[in-house]
Amino acid sequence: MLVIIRPDKAVASIQAAKLVADQVRHKPDSVLGLSTGNTPLATYTELIRMHRDDGLDFSNVTTFNLDEYFGLSREHPQSFYSEIHKNFLDHINVRSDRTHIPNGESKAPAKTCSEYEDAILAAGGIDLQILGIGRTGHIGFNEPTSSLASRTRLKTLSDETINDNSKISGDIPEVAITMGIGTILEAKKILLLAFGESKSNAVAKAIEGPISSSCSASALQMHRDVRFILDEEAATELRHRSYYDRVVEQTKRYAPELLGITND
Ligand code: F6R
Repeated sequence: MLVIIRPDKAVASIQAAKLVADQVRHKPDSVLGLSTGNTPLATYTELIRMHRDDGLDFSNVTTFNLDEYFGLSREHPQSFYSEIHKNFLDHINVRSDRTHIPNGESKAPAKTCSEYEDAILAAGGIDLQILGIGRTGHIGFNEPTSSLASRTRLKTLSDETINDNSKISGDIPEVAITMGIGTILEAKKILLLAFGESKSNAVAKAIEGPISSSCSASALQMHRDVRFILDEEAATELRHRSYYDRVVEQTKRYAPELLGITND
């Protein structure tokens, strides 16, 4: 695991965008896993800028969103469909038939969920998954006690998540369709972004705690290519901070491409 701690969210988001852009340039038909929520917004803004100013081309990219509230129409302003379109997809040249978001209005959710898994497989699997983290340690909407082997399914949201997300967007459903932890772990590369003091406890448990279903993000310790991009505030509860900084320094020397920088 690479734990990259940057001075603030703006700098961290630009680095995250650079890593996503490198992925798309290196493999133009990349399959990207997208998260909604506040955390990746500045990264999406930078990717939109790179598309506009630097010609970053998404025309062969496929996307799969992590999750969607269950019971909301696509058009509902609080749906993740609306959110990801407003904040990212509508501003880049991705083809609409290559964007996927779980259908929150499905009348047959079990079938919808297994078809979502099938579609990810048919696309060749996710090359790069972007994640945020909830205060409960959730990734996607895999709340505490989610099986570490879980697949895309309906999940009941925790009280904490309902409170956090209602503060941002008003009343929300109590249930969502989410990729499972098992689904997320199959992504070839994972970027987890976390900003702000409110995430510091979940971040410390994810990186340094035992692997446990009480913190879904701790399952990322089993992934072989995961990068955590944090701001200073989200890193405050990490016990081995100086070690992570040294690892990043050595990575800069020997494998700068892993950090989204080049030495030339
Ligand atoms: C969103 C998602 C969630 C969020 C998490 C953090 O698609 O899957 O796991 O990443 O709840 O939300 P923010 O970024 O709003 O703090």
